[in-house]
Amino acid sequence: MKKMLSASLMCADLMNLEKSVRELEKAGIDYLHIDIMDGSFVPNITLGFDFINAVKNITDIPLDVHMMVNEPGRFLNAMKLGADDILCVHHESDIHLQRTLAQIKDKGIKAGLAINPQTAPENMRYLKDYIDMALVMTVSPGFAGQKIFSGAEFKTKHTRELLDEWGCENVPIEVDGNISVENGVKLNRCGADIFVLGTSSLFIKGKDMSESAAKFRAALQEG
Ligand code: DX5
Ligand code: ZN
Repeated sequence: MKKMLSASLMCADLMNLEKSVRELEKAGIDYLHIDIMDGSFVPNITLGFDFINAVKNITDIPLDVHMMVNEPGRFLNAMKLGADDILCVHHESDIHLQRTLAQIKDKGIKAGLAINPQTAPENMRYLKDYIDMALVMTVSPGFAGQKIFSGAEFKTKHTRELLDEWGCENVPIEVDGNISVENGVKLNRCGADIFVLGTSSLFIKGKDMSESAAKFRAALQEG
């Protein structure tokens, strides 16, 4: 599967977001990763739905929306997303997860299922027909600048093995949290396909984003 870079906008210069989006377009970024947090599922609040709709209006880069909110099914109509966009919800956030994933897909949006570090990928088994992307969190969600958790590589590899066993070879794995070049290369070897780039590799003061993105892609190619 094609390796994709997803830029985490919560790590961008929040005072110059449109400028950041233009730089990301220039850098050839594949997705804009937008973290939505409710202060309850995770102890933080970041970007909101009006922000998502505003970004949607200014760029053609597909959105990769990461819902770190409880009962995410309540908000499916708050975002104007389309067929190229991904709307990802957490396994741990919804007691009616199958209904929510089905509703996302019924809207013609790609449905992502995210699992926190402690959540086994086996939990996706019965929902495999409802997911277009599996998000393996490589940190406990909620904050940028954290350190990858010790089981990230093994878990990514194990998730890939399970998805392939279930006939989901075309379901990409996204990894999110402390995706430095070094961690990206290791996770690529474990089967990761979509890399969420934040403060660990892309949004680095004084560093050109196009150069950082090119460096990350080259490192993946070197394997
Ligand atoms: C964490 C967020 C990530 C994060 C990535 O909950 O989902 O997108 O911003 O940034 P770094 O690279 O700083 O971990
Ligand atoms: Zn995220």
